[in-house]
Amino acid sequence: MHAFIPAEGSESFLIDELSRSGISARVLNSFTLTDQLPEPSILAFALQTLPNATVVTGASINGWADHIIAAMLVALNDDQPWRLHLWPAYGEGKAGQHRCELILAALPERLKKRRRSLLRSWQKDSVITQSGEALVQAVLTSPETGFVSAAPITEGLSAILSNHIAGYIPHAEDKAAPSRAFAKVVEAELRLGHQIERGQTCVDLGASPGSWSYVAIQRGAHVTAIDRSPLRNDLMRSPRLNFIQADAFKFKPETPVDWLICDIIAAPQRSIDLLLEWLREKQMKRFIVTLKFKGNDEYHLMDQLKKDAPPLCADFRLTRLCANKNEVTAFGLTAK
Ligand SMILES: C[S@@+](CC[C@H](N)C(=O)[O-])C[C@H]1O[C@@H](n2cnc3c(N)ncnc32)[C@H](O)[C@@H]1O
Repeated sequence: MHAFIPAEGSESFLIDELSRSGISARVLNSFTLTDQLPEPSILAFALQTLPNATVVTGASINGWADHIIAAMLVALNDDQPWRLHLWPAYGEGKAGQHRCELILAALPERLKKRRRSLLRSWQKDSVITQSGEALVQAVLTSPETGFVSAAPITEGLSAILSNHIAGYIPHAEDKAAPSRAFAKVVEAELRLGHQIERGQTCVDLGASPGSWSYVAIQRGAHVTAIDRSPLRNDLMRSPRLNFIQADAFKFKPETPVDWLICDIIAAPQRSIDLLLEWLREKQMKRFIVTLKFKGNDEYHLMDQLKKDAPPLCADFRLTRLCANKNEVTAFGLTAK
């Protein structure tokens, strides 16, 4: 069984999305459960996946530790680097957090007895998972119940396994940014594990009032921003910004750029076609593109992107970001 954490308010959209891949789903404690993973494994409305999850009931502190270890012994090789996401999904207070701390404290001693080598390969240093690592997850839906999952992060799973606990990334705040839209580009970078960097080139389509360009400029990138309206005055004066007042759908860079960032208000099919065209022509190395949906009956349009984009990409993601409302964001790395 596989368990998915739906993006906020997207439970029914996730069920529809799975059903369009021929997968039926059921719901338990706000988790969406299936017996199959979609192929390709891209789910816009799931923030996190617990592959091969088992249901835990009636577990004590030591019982939880043993369930986690049992899942690891099935899925992980000896010495395989792994990380643990352990979190409470119940209650408002600190009780759940405290119980997780107790489970965490019980784990090393019990793991030492069962598979000492895995104690040595536990990665606790950073949140960024590397290929070849495994992700071990345990979520408490009450003190005694929940799910555990352990899975190597294979290429096929990387787009639906988040580095962030429960797939959640808090809204970035920056009062100096022209608008709250800047949080979307920051969240997509975090999920992708690649940031816009100093000296890189960036095309920002549908750039006004300029939050995405603001992020890129702050990072030291050179931005070509295209919109019908100018950006905020201070950004327009930036030596790192080249503003072009034009139709963003007609713009192409003279030479390929490091980043395409695109937040045009347009029918989703137009943004999908634009992204696929840029990918086919290898106009950019990395991309972040929002798809803005007017109605829930338009989500099936993403299915074409799920089919056509992955072969053109080294890494392709499609996610309703925590900072998205009626949008879904496509982001990734273009194939070399
Ligand atoms: C959501 S806003 C972009 C916000 C921007 N990412 C930011 O963070 O400030 C969408 C922009 O798309 C622009 N837009 C819509 N259609 C366009 C087109 N065909 N060509 C250029 N810009 C367009 C609008 O003028 C608007 O400024």
